[in-house]
Amino acid sequence: MKADLAVIGGTGVYDPQMLKNITQWTVDTPFGTVPVFTGVLADRKVAFIARHGSNHSVPPHLINYRANIMALKTMGVKKIIATSAVGSLDENIKPGHLVVLDQFIDFTKGRVQTFYEGGEKGVLHVDMTNPYCPHLAEEIIKSCPAETVLHQRGTYVCTEGPRFETPAEIRMFKMWGGQLVGMTSVPEVVLARELGMCYASIALVTNFAAGISPEPLTHQEVVQTMAQNTVKLQHLIMKVLQNVDLRQDCSCPGANKEAGTLGGKE
Ligand code: HPA
Repeated sequence: MKADLAVIGGTGVYDPQMLKNITQWTVDTPFGTVPVFTGVLADRKVAFIARHGSNHSVPPHLINYRANIMALKTMGVKKIIATSAVGSLDENIKPGHLVVLDQFIDFTKGRVQTFYEGGEKGVLHVDMTNPYCPHLAEEIIKSCPAETVLHQRGTYVCTEGPRFETPAEIRMFKMWGGQLVGMTSVPEVVLARELGMCYASIALVTNFAAGISPEPLTHQEVVQTMAQNTVKLQHLIMKVLQNVDLRQDCSCPGANKEAGTLGGKE
């Protein structure tokens, strides 16, 4: 089960219906076993992982990020398009809008963020100047139909979850330049870059963040807004999968070139 491209579906994007000839696999990795779908779109082989499981049974802090990313690497995936539901800290970025992420601020607490754990595995201080692949991001921007509101960049604050944020936290994130808040992009994007894969994320705004929204937040609200917008999100992903260059003409494949060389080995 080889694939060139992958989709990691976040909240509300649980099944690979955008693909044809769908098959389900379980892929073994040193970090655990991952359920993965494969299918075809315009002659391209595409893998699909539901980040939270197909019935949203895995909370953000317990997702096996390393197993998911390693499974896609093992399958030969070069480029990953991820989706995520986010809250907005910016009054111009409204529920229903899409945002192509370009930066993150990490407020996670207990997550393993690396494949390189020292010893035989080596050490890697991976460059995060462009955490999200700018070429893949450009492809998303080019593929977006005129009627869909899409912000071409956005800074994502990743919280540990599973609770939502306090209004005081949101005020602080905003002062620090955060525009969106979610619970899953870190360490997923970091791990993909460590393995030399291009990774881009399309965030869908499901709500204004705590304290900006006049009402208390509910997961139900997140799921409902997501459901109202999944069709446009799926169309955009399908266009990107059809159009994107399968070659990696960017810095992503070289992102781990220093791995294992930091201990003075030549
Ligand atoms: N906070 C954190 N994660 C989220 C939110 C939010 O407001 N909305 C959707 N995912």
